[in-house]
Amino acid sequence: MAQTQSSQGVLSLLTQPTILPFFLLAIAYTILKLLDKTDIPKIKNLPSIPGLPVIGNLHQLGDNHAKIAQQWSEKYGPVFQVKMGNRRIVFANTFDSVKNLWITNQSALISRPMLHTFHTVVSSSEGFTIGTSPWDESCKARRKAAATALNRPAVQSYMPIIDYEATKSIKEMLLDSKYGEIDLDPNAYFTRYALSTSLTLNYGIKIEGNVNDEMLKEITHVERVVSNFRSTSNNWADYVPLLRLLPGNSTGPQEYRKRRAAYMHKLLNMLKQRIADGTDKPCISGNVLKDPEAKLSDGEIMSIGLTMVSAGLDTVPGNLIMTIAYLSSPHGQEIQSRALKEIHAVYPPAQYPDPWAASLSDTGEKIPYLTALVKETLRYWSVIPICLPRTSTREIRWRDAVIPAGTSFYMNAYAAHYDASHFSNPETFNPDRYLQDDTLDDAAASRGTPHYGYGAGSRMCIGSHLANRELYTAFLRIITAFEVLPAKVGSDRPVLDALGCNAFPTSLTLDPKAFKVGLRVRDRGVLEGWIGGSEERTRDL
Ligand code: HEM
Repeated sequence: MAQTQSSQGVLSLLTQPTILPFFLLAIAYTILKLLDKTDIPKIKNLPSIPGLPVIGNLHQLGDNHAKIAQQWSEKYGPVFQVKMGNRRIVFANTFDSVKNLWITNQSALISRPMLHTFHTVVSSSEGFTIGTSPWDESCKARRKAAATALNRPAVQSYMPIIDYEATKSIKEMLLDSKYGEIDLDPNAYFTRYALSTSLTLNYGIKIEGNVNDEMLKEITHVERVVSNFRSTSNNWADYVPLLRLLPGNSTGPQEYRKRRAAYMHKLLNMLKQRIADGTDKPCISGNVLKDPEAKLSDGEIMSIGLTMVSAGLDTVPGNLIMTIAYLSSPHGQEIQSRALKEIHAVYPPAQYPDPWAASLSDTGEKIPYLTALVKETLRYWSVIPICLPRTSTREIRWRDAVIPAGTSFYMNAYAAHYDASHFSNPETFNPDRYLQDDTLDDAAASRGTPHYGYGAGSRMCIGSHLANRELYTAFLRIITAFEVLPAKVGSDRPVLDALGCNAFPTSLTLDPKAFKVGLRVRDRGVLEGWIGGSEERTRDL
């Protein structure tokens, strides 16, 4: 009773006309402070970009994070902190600062953050891919299983699959272009190449149809949309929790979660049925399902499947088709002539009438210029301009700053790739830059990282050996099959700028604007012979 009376007394005092405005102001201030709070308090001695209350720097980063952060680094230094809604993010923007944080501190930078749209809405039923999982025992086990299936010797044993898929795409381009008469957009052919290779490896199931195949179109579309739910710049609701309350905020993500679940379960069930019938082909998920000793749960097998379906789907074709776009330019004509000369130097036509077949039995990549072309492709196009985010598990020192455990880190791979203090003339597409030092290894961060196209350090891409072989093989075959020419109609020609070529600048992975190239067949009879040889070799796949 006494308590009620005293509460009423306080209330009547606060609502007096002279006190009320101050009281309301105090409430507004407290709410603002609460909304403005970040997961990690402001980090001392680390440059901070001035922004607005609550949203912080979100509006300034806009839809061009990589470019804006690159410009800030010129003013504030290579590493700075931003406030994106209620998250504090450390951005690294130069080659050396990434090396220091991602490689020197790799054991402390081993986890990944959880983002509302992707982790809570899109992935609520089928779980996370490896690349979106925070570090724990399950992530370690899934990563180990997938990395073993994607290591260098394993990839060598997948060459028949790459042989089959590369030939299928080139043959279809040959026919669809009417033997070079009609200009083509190469996108769908190489999307199928990447997806079908991954499905065959994981489920023993390939895309049987042409580039208009329904399953191909559904998976490609859904995975592209899902990838954008993971984007660091697309979803303000990931950073400003209040926005999650807006009606309809999760309708899109939920629809795509269901569509994704439908094909993921269909693929797994097809594999289980084939195992039951004894008609399955050796594959990654099949090996786990059939192994009585396997320690992976059903959820973990699904996670590996999700990873295999999505990880190479935008990244391999994005790189491949943008370099095909580049080859059609005037400078690209010189690169093609040089590459052909280098291919002939390793496989002289008189001795090796079929370089497609000859290159398959090589245990590594034998043509240094093509390996350099792959590396320059990965640098120049920077298809994941802001790399998959990381979270620190221990404190990390950067100059005078001590960055606490639990902080999110964004690598601006685009800015690091265009860092003029590391690469001479970074704006120039120049494979030769990777021929100067042949001690560089394509994926061994510890022996010198040629680029950050595959990220760096403890959570670096584990598909790099497979992706390198896919890119190398496709370049070798395209360059020996065709002269890639500019499209006849000027408006069909590609944009050749790494950020400018993106149809959706906020996407996680480059989504190239549509374009066409011309394909002049070098020698139809010889090419048909190579295609026939490959079809013969892969008849039983
Ligand atoms: C050219 C093609 C590819 C590019 C550019 C690429 C790029 C990347 C990047 C930038 C990361 C993040 C690395 C980091 O945080 O440091 C990553 C992670 C990953 N990639 Fe790739 N990737 C490609 C192809 C593939 C393929 C074909 C697969 C498998 C089939 C694959 C599997 C993975 C996995 C499992 C991770 C997560 C690793 C982890 O979180 O521990 N990638 N990739």
